[in-house]
Amino acid sequence: MSSAPIDIERLVRQHAQTSRLLGVDFVPAYRRGVEIESPEKPAASGVHAATTPPVAIPPVAVPRGAPAHQKELDRPAAQRALDALRERYERDAPHEAFVTAHTNIVFGEGDPRARLMFVGEAPGEEEDKTGRPFVGRAGQLLNKMIEAMGLAREDVYICNVLKTRPPNNATPTPTEAALCEPYLLEQVGIVSPEVIVTLGLPATRTLLKSDESMARLRGRWGSLALSDGRSIPVMPTYHPAYLLRNYTPEARGKVWADLCLAMERLGLQPPKGRPAS
Ligand code: URA
Repeated sequence: MSSAPIDIERLVRQHAQTSRLLGVDFVPAYRRGVEIESPEKPAASGVHAATTPPVAIPPVAVPRGAPAHQKELDRPAAQRALDALRERYERDAPHEAFVTAHTNIVFGEGDPRARLMFVGEAPGEEEDKTGRPFVGRAGQLLNKMIEAMGLAREDVYICNVLKTRPPNNATPTPTEAALCEPYLLEQVGIVSPEVIVTLGLPATRTLLKSDESMARLRGRWGSLALSDGRSIPVMPTYHPAYLLRNYTPEARGKVWADLCLAMERLGLQPPKGRPAS
């Protein structure tokens, strides 16, 4: 049986381009038969690529959102509140209402008063083994994205809509997401980030209550209302796992542009040598 020769040059070129965009320092192992878009395609033009005006996404009500005083929590108090929420989640075990393939609950981690929060979809195999969010291949790419923003993983808070691994890493159903949503919203209320970046459609739909596609939602600010009247700006972007599957300059440029919008909102300068500088 013959197989197509591996185009090493093309892989290396893609690796170099991604390194430039996101600081990625590894070459992804593509599955045979998975189409890779041509690296010759023009890259998006960095930070200024997403200049579309903010879309009018109505803020959503938070059913069990954080009380107003929680915005005053200091770090230790916020960590205690997160620990207590995790204990309540474990007692309530909303995931018992649906099928999961989990070993560990993956609640979330990072700075309990982070200015920037990332919300993903659900734990995968590695996350399930370790009990930590985004530690597999997608997590390595997320780490590089965070570093490219001039931040460390410890500076941000990372969690998922679902806290347990779905069987075969299936996309969470709306019912599963709805069962876990109150705990996510409470996490948001405790951390009180200045900006949330949602990674992929399930997280974006859960927080923004929009039926739009990712292509339409990304690069545009949405808003999540808290029960105390505050609202948190939400920047949807593609999931790192999608990026690994669609390893094109165009896709990477779009994600970088979204991250630059988040940085702009936080008053952060992209580190020197990054494409947006
Ligand atoms: N994908 C996610 O959405 N979350 C993780 O924690 C890991 C992979």
